[in-house]
Amino acid sequence: MTLEAEFKTAFDCPPLAIMSAPGRVNLIGEHTDYNGGAVLPAALERRIQVAIARNVSDTVVIKSTRFDDKIERPIGDPKRGDWTDYAMGALSKASELGWFAGGAFLYIESDVPDGAGVSSSAALITAILRAVAKISNITTSAVDIAKHARSVENDYIGMPCGIMDQMAVGLADYGRALALDTLDLSFEVVDIPEDWVFAVIHSGVRRELADGRYKKRFEECQAAADALQTAHLCRPTEAQKVAVSELPENLRKRAQHVISEHERTVAATVALKTQDAHTFGRLMIESHRSYSEDFEASTPVIDALVTDAIAQGALGARLTGGGFGGCIVVLFQAQNADAQIQSLLDKHPKTWPV
Ligand code: GLA
Repeated sequence: MTLEAEFKTAFDCPPLAIMSAPGRVNLIGEHTDYNGGAVLPAALERRIQVAIARNVSDTVVIKSTRFDDKIERPIGDPKRGDWTDYAMGALSKASELGWFAGGAFLYIESDVPDGAGVSSSAALITAILRAVAKISNITTSAVDIAKHARSVENDYIGMPCGIMDQMAVGLADYGRALALDTLDLSFEVVDIPEDWVFAVIHSGVRRELADGRYKKRFEECQAAADALQTAHLCRPTEAQKVAVSELPENLRKRAQHVISEHERTVAATVALKTQDAHTFGRLMIESHRSYSEDFEASTPVIDALVTDAIAQGALGARLTGGGFGGCIVVLFQAQNADAQIQSLLDKHPKTWPV
């Protein structure tokens, strides 16, 4: 059944709009986005689609293809700790902006896995904001939608993320990367060369950003930035760089990661544009080492997977997303990719291709 037909069956009326947004994979640039640095995410083929209609009640009724039951929540309901919070947060943002008033029916169809580090939450919020803008004839930009979507995460959900995910799902399309400078939101959409394959492989270990470990890293970066007296930890002056060595050990390591990760991301963007796959792969490998050892956001299962991907002949491999589980992203040359991906999956039975 199409989403439109599913919607009609569930709610007895047709949807007023159907909008969507993709998941994303971050190729390189981890935890740089709330430290004024560069990121290089790309859109996935997997998407979240949202069908919407107004209703005359004071409730939001949410149905997803993944669950049988409809979930009903009053307008303005505060967060309660499940996935429907992202929908409620998006609608409450839309009403705060004056884009929407009253109740709504929402039908959500997704093949973007959650808890995998591929931004299912940013995709859901973005698709809902797009759908509301459409039915209310709001003229807005993709960058403004990304800013609003981030504020849903920061203010309603309480997740202190940067703006990478929302910009990626709002501005990149499948087969393209978004070279974004989070300091001023300048960006460029860059084609991924046809003979490069970025495989996204789920480690089999779920990851919850709301579990507090992401927030802990965010706070450590803030503490390092405060100690160095900078607003942008990714971009220290020469004197601030020297002062990094005097920070307490955990802050020193976090700072070393984000400073070097920003530099690697800038270099990787050049490598992508000049189609230099070997340099790109080398930077991914360095990025993973830094993410695992200095930022301490990897897990033994993920480290083993990255090591094996490289042993299989990948040019580069690294943990992608917020950390502590989820997916790795691996760069292969197209002619070898299928066989190499298969042998990696065979060796690690809990993994699956995203
Ligand atoms: C999550 C956050 C992003 C970013 C990454 C780490 O995906 O939502 O803002 O900080 O982690 O790079």
